[in-house]
Amino acid sequence: MYNTKKITEDLFWVGANDRRISLFESVYPVPTGVSYNSYLLMDEKTVLLDTVDKSVNHQFLENVAHVLNGKNLDYLIINHMEPDHCAEIPTIVAKYPNVKIVCNAKIQTMIKQFFDFELPEEQYMIVKEGDSLNTGRHNLTFVFAPMVHWPEVMVTYDTVDKILFSADAFGSFGAIDGNIFADEVDFDHRYMDEARRYYTNIVGKYGQQVQMLLKKAANIDIQMICPLHGYVWRKDLDKFIDKYVKWSTYTPEINSVMIAYASVYGGTQNAAEILAGKLAQNGVKDIKMYDVSVTHPSYILSDAFKYSHIVFASTTYNNGIFVNMENLLHDVVAHNLQNRKIAILENGSWAPVSGKLMTEVLSGLKNTEIIESKVSLKSSVKSDKYEELENLAKEIIESMK
Ligand code: FEO
Repeated sequence: MYNTKKITEDLFWVGANDRRISLFESVYPVPTGVSYNSYLLMDEKTVLLDTVDKSVNHQFLENVAHVLNGKNLDYLIINHMEPDHCAEIPTIVAKYPNVKIVCNAKIQTMIKQFFDFELPEEQYMIVKEGDSLNTGRHNLTFVFAPMVHWPEVMVTYDTVDKILFSADAFGSFGAIDGNIFADEVDFDHRYMDEARRYYTNIVGKYGQQVQMLLKKAANIDIQMICPLHGYVWRKDLDKFIDKYVKWSTYTPEINSVMIAYASVYGGTQNAAEILAGKLAQNGVKDIKMYDVSVTHPSYILSDAFKYSHIVFASTTYNNGIFVNMENLLHDVVAHNLQNRKIAILENGSWAPVSGKLMTEVLSGLKNTEIIESKVSLKSSVKSDKYEELENLAKEIIESMK
């Protein structure tokens, strides 16, 4: 049965939730699920903005049919060709054969790569940056946003109701729990961490391209943001946009320390705990610790974007970096983290080399300083290492000033 949500007098959410999905994009755990948002504008001409993932197609098709209520579907705007949003294009084309697909040239190429359906060229409206579509009362303008998150991405701006259909930007992990607007839920406590984890892992690498979109957005009056995942924003837009400014410029949100450690028999963990305690005794607040063998790297990467200082502590394993730590470090580098201060702690019972190897992996991070003091353990913390940990804590605190 249909489950739609009214956003304005003539705009409806026709998406759906998936709470059974275990790994979004086959990588990211989503313990609170994910929403696939699609929007239907009921103007003189009817316009569907994006579709959904195939896992929720039944709910989506019922929703579209319910809102159309027997009317024809005139336009399908495709902002992003990733299959979590485009999977139902063939079904929509089959069900509403006169529909015109509105997209840019790159999107059209991808449609033909992904799907086999034949649609006459006159049923494509290929748009360029700044082109518009008038649908009666509304006027929709298309703004290109390459690499937020794929190269073909564009966003759609309704110049009449001042609504930005922002594609993946301003989205979040987590299903929509009944409410549709971000101001109807305790977003800061329930969703902000998941919005950060979504941003950093999905588009974190493309900060520069996100900044370009933010610059374009700064020139238009935006009263509402309708993303492809998560809640719709109609209040406190500046607060969320400010987060995007910080994340896309790789600016830490807090001046504090995150410690990620890999420990097989407890020696490295012990050193990490002692270091955290010494930092706390010296006034550092809100320290965060992760065991990389327990927590999925997407959570740790997300906090790496939040914290100003990061300690990576790893045992040596197979004459290299412990496997989960190595995976995390490559993830951090791949996501283009910048502007951080990093401390290294290594362990190894006969030939500790993880510190040197971790430093090598991290040396490519832009505007990032590796703090000089490095703690090197052999198996476990002894009294001389206690002093070294104290010195490292002091050096980290000094660099926080
Ligand atoms: Fe939600 Fe890039 O797809």
